[in-house]
Amino acid sequence: MKRIAIITSGGDAPGMNAAIRAIVLSCHEQHIECLGFYHGYNGLINDEFIFLTPELVSPIIQRGGTILKSARCKEMHQDEGVKQVANTLTKHQIDALIVIGGDGSFRGMMALQSDWSGNLIGVPATIDNDIACTDKTIGFASAVNTATQAIDNIRDTANAFERVFIVEVMGRRSGHIAFNVGLAAGAEAILSFENCNLNSLEQAKSHLITQIQSQLLEQHTGFVIVLAENLWPKGPHGLQQTLKDTAGIESAVCVLGYIQRGGSPCPEDRILATELGIEAVSAAKNSTGMMVGKVNGQISRHCIIRATEQNKPVDQALHSAYHHMSKLNN
Ligand code: F6P
Repeated sequence: MKRIAIITSGGDAPGMNAAIRAIVLSCHEQHIECLGFYHGYNGLINDEFIFLTPELVSPIIQRGGTILKSARCKEMHQDEGVKQVANTLTKHQIDALIVIGGDGSFRGMMALQSDWSGNLIGVPATIDNDIACTDKTIGFASAVNTATQAIDNIRDTANAFERVFIVEVMGRRSGHIAFNVGLAAGAEAILSFENCNLNSLEQAKSHLITQIQSQLLEQHTGFVIVLAENLWPKGPHGLQQTLKDTAGIESAVCVLGYIQRGGSPCPEDRILATELGIEAVSAAKNSTGMMVGKVNGQISRHCIIRATEQNKPVDQALHSAYHHMSKLNN
Protein backbone atom coordinates (compact mmCIF):
# COMPACT_ATOMS: atom_id res chain seq x y z
CA MET A 1 0.00 0.00 0.00
CA LYS A 2 1.47 3.34 -1.07
CA ARG A 3 -1.19 5.98 -0.56
CA ILE A 4 -4.19 6.45 1.65
CA ALA A 5 -6.76 9.21 1.81
CA ILE A 6 -8.50 10.41 4.97
CA ILE A 7 -11.72 12.37 5.45
CA THR A 8 -13.60 13.53 8.53
CA SER A 9 -17.28 13.55 7.74
CA GLY A 10 -20.65 14.40 9.35
CA GLY A 11 -20.95 16.04 12.76
CA ASP A 12 -17.46 16.82 14.06
CA ALA A 13 -16.48 15.15 17.32
CA PRO A 14 -13.69 15.86 19.82
CA GLY A 15 -10.89 13.39 19.10
CA MET A 16 -11.13 13.48 15.29
CA ASN A 17 -7.78 15.29 15.20
CA ALA A 18 -6.24 12.70 17.49
CA ALA A 19 -7.40 9.99 15.04
CA ILE A 20 -5.93 11.87 12.06
CA ARG A 21 -2.65 12.20 13.96
CA ALA A 22 -2.46 8.49 14.76
CA ILE A 23 -3.23 7.52 11.16
CA VAL A 24 -0.68 9.90 9.65
CA LEU A 25 2.10 8.99 12.07
CA SER A 26 1.45 5.26 11.58
CA CYS A 27 1.48 5.70 7.81
CA HIS A 28 4.71 7.67 7.94
CA GLU A 29 6.43 4.89 9.84
CA GLN A 30 5.30 2.44 7.14
CA HIS A 31 6.27 4.73 4.23
CA ILE A 32 2.67 5.25 3.20
CA GLU A 33 1.69 8.66 1.85
CA CYS A 34 -1.41 10.36 3.34
CA LEU A 35 -3.74 12.76 1.55
CA GLY A 36 -6.34 14.56 3.66
CA PHE A 37 -9.42 15.68 1.75
CA TYR A 38 -11.33 18.65 3.14
CA HIS A 39 -15.01 18.94 4.11
CA GLY A 40 -15.80 15.22 4.14
CA TYR A 41 -16.91 13.69 0.85
CA ASN A 42 -17.27 17.19 -0.63
CA GLY A 43 -13.47 17.48 -0.73
CA LEU A 44 -13.33 14.27 -2.74
CA ILE A 45 -15.93 15.61 -5.15
CA ASN A 46 -14.14 18.95 -5.52
CA ASP A 47 -10.62 17.50 -5.41
CA GLU A 48 -9.63 19.66 -2.45
CA PHE A 49 -6.81 18.08 -0.43
CA ILE A 50 -3.55 18.47 1.45
CA PHE A 51 -0.57 16.14 1.94
CA LEU A 52 -0.61 15.25 5.62
CA THR A 53 2.84 15.15 7.18
CA PRO A 54 4.02 14.26 10.69
CA GLU A 55 5.00 17.92 11.24
CA LEU A 56 1.46 19.00 10.48
CA VAL A 57 -0.30 16.50 12.74
CA SER A 58 2.11 16.11 15.64
CA PRO A 59 0.71 18.99 17.69
CA ILE A 60 -3.04 18.39 17.16
CA ILE A 61 -3.93 15.64 19.64
CA GLN A 62 -5.47 18.11 22.10
CA ARG A 63 -7.42 20.14 19.54
CA GLY A 64 -11.21 19.92 19.16
CA GLY A 65 -12.93 20.08 15.77
CA THR A 66 -11.01 18.70 12.80
CA ILE A 67 -8.14 20.18 10.81
CA LEU A 68 -9.68 18.57 7.70
CA LYS A 69 -13.03 20.33 8.32
CA SER A 70 -16.23 18.36 8.15
CA ALA A 71 -19.55 18.49 6.35
CA ARG A 72 -22.54 16.43 5.37
CA CYS A 73 -22.70 15.67 1.66
CA LYS A 74 -26.03 15.45 -0.20
CA GLU A 75 -24.28 14.41 -3.41
CA MET A 76 -23.32 11.08 -1.84
CA HIS A 77 -27.00 10.11 -2.00
CA GLN A 78 -26.79 10.24 -5.78
CA ASP A 79 -24.89 7.99 -8.21
CA GLU A 80 -23.23 10.98 -9.86
CA GLY A 81 -21.67 12.16 -6.57
CA VAL A 82 -20.44 8.66 -5.70
CA LYS A 83 -18.85 8.34 -9.15
CA GLN A 84 -17.08 11.69 -8.77
CA VAL A 85 -15.62 10.57 -5.44
CA ALA A 86 -14.45 7.31 -7.04
CA ASN A 87 -12.84 9.25 -9.93
CA THR A 88 -10.87 11.49 -7.57
CA LEU A 89 -9.61 8.49 -5.60
CA THR A 90 -8.56 6.75 -8.82
CA LYS A 91 -6.95 9.90 -10.22
CA HIS A 92 -4.72 10.21 -7.15
CA GLN A 93 -3.90 6.48 -7.11
CA ILE A 94 -5.30 6.04 -3.62
CA ASP A 95 -5.11 2.49 -2.30
CA ALA A 96 -7.38 2.97 0.71
CA LEU A 97 -9.82 5.55 2.08
CA ILE A 98 -10.25 5.96 5.83
CA VAL A 99 -13.52 7.64 6.80
CA ILE A 100 -13.66 9.15 10.30
CA GLY A 101 -17.33 9.81 11.08
CA GLY A 102 -20.73 8.45 12.02
CA ASP A 103 -23.28 6.19 10.38
CA GLY A 104 -24.24 8.61 7.57
CA SER A 105 -20.58 8.75 6.60
CA PHE A 106 -20.34 4.96 6.67
CA ARG A 107 -23.36 4.68 4.40
CA GLY A 108 -21.42 6.85 1.94
CA MET A 109 -18.57 4.35 2.23
CA MET A 110 -20.93 1.49 1.44
CA ALA A 111 -22.24 3.32 -1.63
CA LEU A 112 -18.68 3.78 -2.83
CA GLN A 113 -17.93 0.06 -2.70
CA SER A 114 -19.56 -0.61 -6.06
CA ASP A 115 -17.70 2.17 -7.92
CA TRP A 116 -14.22 1.98 -6.46
CA SER A 117 -11.98 -1.02 -5.86
CA GLY A 118 -9.70 0.42 -3.16
CA ASN A 119 -10.01 -0.52 0.51
CA LEU A 120 -12.56 1.31 2.65
CA ILE A 121 -12.19 1.56 6.42
CA GLY A 122 -14.41 3.40 8.93
CA VAL A 123 -13.34 4.95 12.24
CA PRO A 124 -16.40 5.65 14.46
CA ALA A 125 -16.47 9.26 15.60
CA THR A 126 -19.64 10.97 16.72
CA ILE A 127 -20.71 12.47 20.01
CA ASP A 128 -23.98 10.49 19.77
CA ASN A 129 -22.37 7.07 20.44
CA ASP A 130 -25.06 5.55 18.22
CA ILE A 131 -22.85 3.11 16.32
CA ALA A 132 -22.82 -0.59 17.03
CA CYS A 133 -19.65 -2.76 17.20
CA THR A 134 -17.82 -0.34 19.45
CA ASP A 135 -18.56 0.32 23.09
CA LYS A 136 -17.88 4.01 22.60
CA THR A 137 -17.42 6.28 19.63
CA ILE A 138 -14.72 8.93 19.52
CA GLY A 139 -16.12 12.19 20.95
CA PHE A 140 -18.81 10.68 23.14
CA ALA A 141 -16.86 10.82 26.42
CA SER A 142 -15.85 14.45 25.82
CA ALA A 143 -19.43 15.46 25.02
CA VAL A 144 -20.64 13.77 28.21
CA ASN A 145 -17.97 15.64 30.21
CA THR A 146 -18.88 18.98 28.66
CA ALA A 147 -22.61 18.54 29.17
CA THR A 148 -22.16 17.29 32.74
CA GLN A 149 -20.08 20.34 33.65
CA ALA A 150 -22.70 22.60 32.09
CA ILE A 151 -25.46 20.96 34.14
CA ASP A 152 -23.36 21.26 37.32
CA ASN A 153 -23.44 25.02 36.73
CA ILE A 154 -27.15 25.00 35.99
CA ARG A 155 -27.69 23.01 39.19
CA ASP A 156 -26.31 25.88 41.30
CA THR A 157 -28.79 28.37 39.95
CA ALA A 158 -31.60 25.78 39.93
CA ASN A 159 -31.05 25.18 43.65
CA ALA A 160 -30.72 28.87 44.45
CA PHE A 161 -34.06 29.66 42.82
CA GLU A 162 -35.73 26.31 43.58
CA ARG A 163 -36.43 26.28 39.89
CA VAL A 164 -37.22 23.56 37.38
CA PHE A 165 -34.78 23.39 34.48
CA ILE A 166 -35.29 21.55 31.22
CA VAL A 167 -31.87 20.88 29.73
CA GLU A 168 -31.85 19.57 26.18
CA VAL A 169 -28.87 17.45 25.18
CA MET A 170 -27.85 16.20 21.73
CA GLY A 171 -27.88 12.57 20.59
CA ARG A 172 -29.92 12.72 17.39
CA ARG A 173 -32.32 9.81 18.00
CA SER A 174 -30.50 7.95 20.73
CA GLY A 175 -30.26 8.44 24.47
CA HIS A 176 -26.62 7.58 25.16
CA ILE A 177 -25.77 11.20 25.95
CA ALA A 178 -29.04 11.80 27.83
CA PHE A 179 -28.64 8.78 30.12
CA ASN A 180 -24.94 9.20 30.80
CA VAL A 181 -25.18 12.93 31.41
CA GLY A 182 -28.40 12.62 33.40
CA LEU A 183 -26.85 10.09 35.75
CA ALA A 184 -23.53 11.91 36.05
CA ALA A 185 -25.24 15.20 36.83
CA GLY A 186 -27.73 13.63 39.24
CA ALA A 187 -30.68 14.82 37.15
CA GLU A 188 -34.05 14.30 38.83
CA ALA A 189 -35.54 13.17 35.51
CA ILE A 190 -34.23 11.83 32.21
CA LEU A 191 -36.58 11.86 29.25
CA SER A 192 -35.26 9.96 26.28
CA PHE A 193 -36.28 7.58 23.51
CA GLU A 194 -35.46 4.57 25.65
CA ASN A 195 -37.87 5.40 28.47
CA CYS A 196 -40.52 7.45 26.61
CA ASN A 197 -42.07 7.08 23.23
CA LEU A 198 -44.87 8.89 21.47
CA ASN A 199 -47.44 6.56 23.06
CA SER A 200 -46.14 6.99 26.56
CA LEU A 201 -45.62 10.77 26.59
CA GLU A 202 -48.89 11.31 28.47
CA GLN A 203 -47.79 8.87 31.15
CA ALA A 204 -44.32 10.43 31.31
CA LYS A 205 -45.89 13.84 31.70
CA SER A 206 -48.09 12.87 34.67
CA HIS A 207 -45.24 11.05 36.36
CA LEU A 208 -42.98 14.07 35.88
CA ILE A 209 -45.53 16.48 37.29
CA THR A 210 -46.06 14.38 40.42
CA GLN A 211 -42.30 14.07 40.85
CA ILE A 212 -41.71 17.83 40.49
CA GLN A 213 -44.56 18.79 42.79
CA SER A 214 -43.49 16.49 45.59
CA GLN A 215 -39.82 17.29 45.33
CA LEU A 216 -40.15 21.07 45.18
CA LEU A 217 -42.54 21.02 48.11
CA GLU A 218 -40.54 18.70 50.32
CA GLN A 219 -36.93 19.34 49.48
CA HIS A 220 -36.73 22.97 48.40
CA THR A 221 -34.10 22.28 45.78
CA GLY A 222 -33.97 22.71 42.05
CA PHE A 223 -35.26 20.06 39.67
CA VAL A 224 -33.24 19.22 36.58
CA ILE A 225 -34.83 17.38 33.66
CA VAL A 226 -32.42 16.09 31.02
CA LEU A 227 -34.33 15.91 27.75
CA ALA A 228 -33.03 14.12 24.64
CA GLU A 229 -33.27 16.27 21.51
CA ASN A 230 -35.94 15.31 18.95
CA LEU A 231 -38.06 13.51 21.57
CA TRP A 232 -40.69 15.90 22.85
CA PRO A 233 -43.17 17.46 20.41
CA LYS A 234 -41.98 21.08 19.86
CA GLY A 235 -38.82 20.32 21.84
CA PRO A 236 -37.95 21.68 25.29
CA HIS A 237 -40.21 24.70 24.85
CA GLY A 238 -43.07 22.33 24.10
CA LEU A 239 -42.41 20.52 27.36
CA GLN A 240 -42.11 23.85 29.20
CA GLN A 241 -45.53 24.89 27.89
CA THR A 242 -47.03 21.51 28.80
CA LEU A 243 -45.81 21.77 32.39
CA LYS A 244 -47.24 25.26 32.66
CA ASP A 245 -50.59 24.51 31.02
CA THR A 246 -51.18 21.22 32.82
CA ALA A 247 -49.91 21.95 36.31
CA GLY A 248 -48.93 25.63 36.47
CA ILE A 249 -45.27 24.64 36.82
CA GLU A 250 -42.84 27.34 35.70
CA SER A 251 -39.54 26.17 34.27
CA ALA A 252 -36.47 27.47 32.48
CA VAL A 253 -35.10 25.97 29.29
CA CYS A 254 -31.46 25.52 28.46
CA VAL A 255 -30.44 23.95 25.14
CA LEU A 256 -26.83 22.84 25.43
CA GLY A 257 -26.52 22.45 21.65
CA TYR A 258 -23.20 22.69 19.87
CA ILE A 259 -21.08 23.32 22.95
CA GLN A 260 -21.29 19.52 23.33
CA ARG A 261 -19.43 19.03 20.04
CA GLY A 262 -16.60 21.44 20.74
CA GLY A 263 -13.67 21.70 23.10
CA SER A 264 -10.51 19.77 23.73
CA PRO A 265 -11.04 15.99 23.71
CA CYS A 266 -10.81 14.31 27.11
CA PRO A 267 -7.99 11.77 27.66
CA GLU A 268 -10.37 8.84 27.08
CA ASP A 269 -11.24 10.12 23.60
CA ARG A 270 -7.63 10.90 22.73
CA ILE A 271 -6.61 7.37 23.69
CA LEU A 272 -9.52 5.72 21.85
CA ALA A 273 -8.82 7.83 18.74
CA THR A 274 -5.15 6.88 18.84
CA GLU A 275 -5.89 3.16 19.21
CA LEU A 276 -8.51 3.17 16.45
CA GLY A 277 -6.31 5.28 14.15
CA ILE A 278 -3.45 2.78 14.44
CA GLU A 279 -5.83 -0.14 13.81
CA ALA A 280 -7.42 1.62 10.82
CA VAL A 281 -4.07 1.78 9.03
CA SER A 282 -3.36 -1.87 9.59
CA ALA A 283 -6.91 -2.81 8.51
CA ALA A 284 -6.57 -0.66 5.38
CA LYS A 285 -3.68 -2.80 4.17
CA ASN A 286 -5.60 -6.03 3.81
CA SER A 287 -9.33 -5.50 4.25
CA THR A 288 -12.23 -3.43 3.02
CA GLY A 289 -15.80 -2.62 4.09
CA MET A 290 -14.75 -2.73 7.73
CA MET A 291 -15.09 -0.49 10.76
CA VAL A 292 -12.56 -0.56 13.58
CA GLY A 293 -13.95 -0.51 17.11
CA LYS A 294 -13.21 -1.27 20.73
CA VAL A 295 -15.40 -3.87 22.41
CA ASN A 296 -14.83 -5.00 25.99
CA GLY A 297 -11.37 -3.44 25.94
CA GLN A 298 -10.35 -5.21 22.72
CA ILE A 299 -9.60 -3.39 19.49
CA SER A 300 -11.47 -5.21 16.74
CA ARG A 301 -12.69 -5.04 13.14
CA HIS A 302 -16.31 -5.38 12.08
CA CYS A 303 -18.24 -5.51 8.86
CA ILE A 304 -19.44 -1.98 8.15
CA ILE A 305 -22.95 -3.26 7.38
CA ARG A 306 -23.28 -4.71 10.89
CA ALA A 307 -21.93 -1.52 12.41
CA THR A 308 -24.47 0.70 10.67
CA GLU A 309 -27.51 -1.52 10.66
CA GLN A 310 -27.49 -2.73 14.24
CA ASN A 311 -29.03 -0.62 16.94
CA LYS A 312 -26.82 -0.02 19.97
CA PRO A 313 -29.07 0.24 23.00
CA VAL A 314 -28.25 2.28 26.09
CA ASP A 315 -26.70 -0.04 28.70
CA GLN A 316 -29.30 -1.77 30.83
CA ALA A 317 -27.17 -0.97 33.88
CA LEU A 318 -27.72 2.75 33.27
CA HIS A 319 -31.50 2.26 33.12
CA SER A 320 -31.39 0.34 36.38
CA ALA A 321 -29.24 2.93 38.11
CA TYR A 322 -31.56 5.71 36.96
CA HIS A 323 -34.68 3.89 38.21
CA HIS A 324 -33.00 3.16 41.49
CA MET A 325 -31.96 6.78 41.98
CA SER A 326 -35.41 8.06 40.94
CA LYS A 327 -36.97 6.06 43.75
CA LEU A 328 -34.44 7.42 46.27
CA ASN A 329 -35.15 10.99 45.11
CA ASN A 330 -38.85 10.68 45.86
O1 F6P B 1 -24.47 13.68 15.05
C1 F6P B 1 -23.97 14.68 15.86
C2 F6P B 1 -24.99 15.75 16.05
O2 F6P B 1 -24.40 16.76 16.83
C3 F6P B 1 -26.31 15.30 16.66
O3 F6P B 1 -26.23 15.13 18.05
C4 F6P B 1 -27.22 16.41 16.21
O4 F6P B 1 -28.57 15.97 16.17
C5 F6P B 1 -26.71 16.73 14.85
O5 F6P B 1 -25.36 16.30 14.82
C6 F6P B 1 -26.75 18.19 14.46
O6 F6P B 1 -26.38 18.27 13.13
P1 F6P B 1 -25.95 19.59 12.37
O7 F6P B 1 -24.52 19.85 12.69
O8 F6P B 1 -26.11 19.24 10.95
O9 F6P B 1 -26.83 20.68 12.87
